Formats: sequence, C-alpha cells, structure tokens
Amino acid sequence: MNLSIKHLLGLEGVPRDDINAILDTAFSFREVLERPIKKVPTLRSITVLNLFFENSTRTRISFELAEKRLSADMVNFSASGSSLAKGETLRDTVQNIYAMKVDVVVMRHPVPGSVKLLSQFVDAVVINAGDGTHEHPTQALLDMMSIKEKCGSLEDLNVAIIGDIRHSRVALSNIYGLRTMGANVLLCGPPTFIPYGVESLGVKVTYDLDEALDFADVINVLRIQKERQGKGLIPSLREYRNVYGVTQQRLSKLKKTITIMHPGPINRGVEIDSDVADSEHSIILHQVLNGVAVRMSILFLLAGGK
Ligand code: CP
Repeated sequence: MNLSIKHLLGLEGVPRDDINAILDTAFSFREVLERPIKKVPTLRSITVLNLFFENSTRTRISFELAEKRLSADMVNFSASGSSLAKGETLRDTVQNIYAMKVDVVVMRHPVPGSVKLLSQFVDAVVINAGDGTHEHPTQALLDMMSIKEKCGSLEDLNVAIIGDIRHSRVALSNIYGLRTMGANVLLCGPPTFIPYGVESLGVKVTYDLDEALDFADVINVLRIQKERQGKGLIPSLREYRNVYGVTQQRLSKLKKTITIMHPGPINRGVEIDSDVADSEHSIILHQVLNGVAVRMSILFLLAGGK
C-alpha cells in the first residue's frame, strides 16, 4: 500500500485514501499489539531519529514503542544537553545528525512550520510530532482510529471539539482529518479560544457547551494551553470550569450517551471532571493504545519501502 505523501507534516490536504490506508494498517498493527510477542521485523534496516525540542509523555513514548515494535534502530535527541545551548542552529544540528545516516526523523518543536523546514534540510522521511500551535497529525489519526473503533464510521458523525481551539495543534489536525473523512465538526469554547474565521475550514462554532453536547456523538475535550497563550483570555480557571467544564451533572441532562475523548495531558477538574474522564463512555486510554498502532502504521507506510 503506497501513500501519496512522502512526509507526514500535517493533515491539511492529505487525501481520504491516504487516511483510510493509515487507519486500516493501524488496525492490523493493533492486532500485533495484542499478541504475546508484540514485535515484527518490518523496519529492521531502518534508523529513526526522535528529535524532541518540547516536553512530551504520550507522543514520545508512543513513537519509541512503535519503532521498537517494528524492529527499527532508534536514536533519541533532547534539546536539553545538546549543542543547541552553545548556539548551534536547528539546521546545523539536524544536518549533523543526518550525516550519520538516518532514514526517518520524528520531530516535536515549539515553532509552527519548523517540521516543514526540516523536510527541506534532509532527505529522510519527516514526521510531525507536534509543531507549536500548527498541527499534530499523528494525534488526529489516533483520534480518528479510536472514533472508528467505537462508532464504526466517521462519515456524518457529529464530533464536537471543546476547549482551547485557538492554541491547539490537536484541534487543527482533527479539523482537517475529520472534515476529509466526512464528519461534521462543531467547535466550542469561549470566544477568546476560537480562531477568527475558522468556519472557512468547514466547521461550525458555538460558545454554548450545552448546544455542543446536544449536537455531539463524540466530544474531544482539550486542555487550556497555558504555555502558548498570553494572560487574560479567560477570567479564571474556576469560571472556565463553571461554563465549559464537562461534568457528569451536565451530561446526565442529556437523553443519550456521548463518547468522551481527550488527547492528554488532562487537567482534571478544569476542562473535564475525573468521573467523566474515567467513565465507561470514555475512550481516553484506547486513544493511547491506538497511538502506538497509528505510529507503527505511519512509520511502515512511509519508511517501509526505503
Ligand atoms: N497528546 C499529546 O501530544 O501528549 P504529549 O504532549 O504528552 O505527547
């Protein structure tokens, strides 16, 4: 199975056939992850460099596990402890590492567009593990896989993304992916958290959480991205929780059940309460498991033929 893309820089413009191929392959790798021996020799000749310039728990561990499960050789790089502190540029850092012959570079970086720039410096496959407020395509793919697993299809499904949309790369990648796959997307949050003109991406907007919950088959709840925003966008966390917090009390008013998602890290008691995040309708930990399968799929489809 071949993809039309050479790198995974984002989901903007990635065709439906590619997304279907990634998700179908990920479901096959999910079966591998359920086996007693969870390893296949598929990428035995491939070397992957994981470049993380920003904190990560789920994405980093998930990529590392995916690479190990596929028998790839891997090298991990963290910005702290590197020669970046001595004034070396990203370009020099990456080109020096690339000279050591790597086939795939997975990068998380705080600057939007940095991953695309990287793809112009090196002849390796480049995979975006989150570039600032821009995109986080592997997260959106694992989100779509988890929705498909739970609901069967994405076509015409009503998905509400709730919270800090403006500073979230997860939101943008989900919008591109879900719209390509035929889902209806409603964004919900305070006006300061909704990007101006976002409706042009084919989504609807509401500032009313109850309206979003009425609409939704699935909700994807986002944390407030404190590290990426100025002060004063919301009066207080307590006020935010009162108006936009997903609580059991709100959900129990509905005459239906909603599938609950969150990309993590969760700020319990702010955007979502613990009894909702841990409820039987939550698929948050399925998202984490599917993250390994989706990353195996992407590594296999982009680097398997190298
Ligand atoms: N969802 C996600 O990207 O989590 P990490 O920041 O822990 O990788």
